[in-house]
Amino acid sequence: MKLVRAALGLLLLAPPLVQTVEPISLGLALAGVLTGYISYPRLYCFFTECCGQKRSLSREALQKDLDNKLFGQHLAKKVILNAVSGFISNPKPKKPLTLSLHGWTGTGKNFVSKIIAEHIYEGGLNSDYVHLFVATLHFPHASNITQYKDQLQQWIRGNVSACARSIFIFDEMDKMHAGLIDAIKPFLDYYDLVDGISYQKAIFIFLSNAGAERITDVALDFWRSGKQREEIKLRDVEQALSVSVFNNKNSGFWHSSLIDRNLIDYFVPFLPLEYKHLKMCIKVEMKSRGYEVDEDIVNRVAEEMTFFPKEERVFSDKGCKTVYTKLDYYYDEDD
Ligand SMILES: *[C@@H]1O[C@H](CO)[C@@H](O)[C@H](O)[C@H]1NC(C)=O
Ligand SMILES: *[C@@H]1O[C@H](CO)[C@@H](O)[C@H](O)[C@H]1NC(C)=O
Repeated sequence: MKLVRAALGLLLLAPPLVQTVEPISLGLALAGVLTGYISYPRLYCFFTECCGQKRSLSREALQKDLDNKLFGQHLAKKVILNAVSGFISNPKPKKPLTLSLHGWTGTGKNFVSKIIAEHIYEGGLNSDYVHLFVATLHFPHASNITQYKDQLQQWIRGNVSACARSIFIFDEMDKMHAGLIDAIKPFLDYYDLVDGISYQKAIFIFLSNAGAERITDVALDFWRSGKQREEIKLRDVEQALSVSVFNNKNSGFWHSSLIDRNLIDYFVPFLPLEYKHLKMCIKVEMKSRGYEVDEDIVNRVAEEMTFFPKEERVFSDKGCKTVYTKLDYYYDEDD
């Protein structure tokens, strides 16, 4: 079976190879497949995406991506970079990596999950090894929770046994029915094997708005006392965060033994974004759409956003989220 797929891979890629590679290299490659079964995985994974084999994560590349695309999040950036690159380079992790990302909408949680996925798999969120679950989409009915639990366990078991380096992203954790997430608890724990399968190389990322108020309070305190937001330390938000998430009935983590049992490796806070960060998001988006940066449009889009608290108007209430659709409006008008 594997040989057949390898041969297929070679067939698929033969035309471009013929164009770009000298015949002798092609001959060697062919000989490689036909004679040495050992070289099969490397060659095969060159053609199609493979589970955890395509490339090793580059810490520098990840850092560069985060620096260029994620704004106003010095804490999240640092935690993510260390956690993900440390985990990937560890040949024998004792448990899967579990990240819990918290913050207001539009502050970059989904964006960061996307970046992580892209640095591990070429296909990013579309990869066969990356799985996104959205609470209101995949698990909408409270009455079906038992069924969801079974289904979720089956999916995770099935996918991890096919690929140990699977990534699972749970969006809208705050809307996840209490208890559902407990169903995946055994997979997150320090077990070598669960029913013969090791989950230790998998990555679980949980996204939620829970704790956003607390994070905002901390950021606002710093702002009001004239301190730089970059002076905010992880410990300024971390403690408050895990307590508020745990105690919040609507957080989806409520009564969840994930926190109880310290199965979450990192709570990652996303700070509310200021006016200047919005402008950075807008500029990057303009460039990525192939336009010159137009300061006038940048300012006009940023000024359309709403800010809180009412009197001081420091933070954007939607982060960078609606900035992109607002930008559409300006360019549609110009056409
Ligand atoms: C939810 O459960 C009900 C009965 O328990 C069943 O009829 C229905 O098909 C289920 N919905 C989904 C989406 O599975
Ligand atoms: C893997 O997860 C997806 C959901 O993302 C599910 O549809 C699929 O059936 C799972 N595969 C296995 C082998 O369980």
